[in-house]
Amino acid sequence: MDNDTLIKVVASAVKKELINMKEAGHDWWHTYRVWKLSSYIAKKYDNIDSSIVELAALLHDIADAKFFNGNEEIGPEKARKILVSLNTPKNKIEHVDNIIRNISFRHEVERKPFSSIELSIVQDADRLDAIGAIGIARAFNYGGFIGNPLYSPTVDGKKDSTVNHFYEKLLLLKDRMNTETARKLAEKRHNFMVTYLEHFFEEWDEIKTKSPKNKTQE
Ligand code: ADP
Ligand code: NI
Repeated sequence: MDNDTLIKVVASAVKKELINMKEAGHDWWHTYRVWKLSSYIAKKYDNIDSSIVELAALLHDIADAKFFNGNEEIGPEKARKILVSLNTPKNKIEHVDNIIRNISFRHEVERKPFSSIELSIVQDADRLDAIGAIGIARAFNYGGFIGNPLYSPTVDGKKDSTVNHFYEKLLLLKDRMNTETARKLAEKRHNFMVTYLEHFFEEWDEIKTKSPKNKTQE
């Protein structure tokens, strides 16, 4: 099977698996955006195998451990099963496996056992989809999905609010991009999040700080 056909068949298998995902921040459309962003970044490089980038992007969230009791093996196993069933060359399967096992933020903090330009690209694309307007939507959707408040101004509650997640993670991502292309794309998305948060806090305290002086005829 040629690379284009392989990518098409994998895309439709992943779509089938994720289209009914109950958390919209990790559904087929997240994968689709990461796939498209990854291929765009990959085009800037001459000496890479862009089919690895596309396959890894497509398979990186096939079974996110968050939705499988923290089991980190289900995703890589499902991905491997799909690739093996399509007679993908062994070295390609190994590289894709390494990417999807090492793409996440958490893994980078813990250990760094594998690196490749293809991994760097997919990681950048995944991070780009976590920031900007889409990133904001995904964060509030996931926060709602796990029952977190939008924001909690008390010190105790702060830990588990979605707004706090911006400070713990999302606002740090622009400085963690691997590629120049992603760094450029990240800037606009980052600035939009900063503006968004300014508005959020302004509105949060608006009633306290402004009292209506004139009664209206409403
Ligand atoms: P990675 O896939 O790099 O390990 P995550 O799975 O933590 O990263 O993040 C994927 C998406 O889920 C991001 O859009 C992120 O903002 C969102 N997310 C993760 N944890 C939280 C949280 N506690 N509150 C809100 N959104 C979250
Ligand atoms: Ni992802």
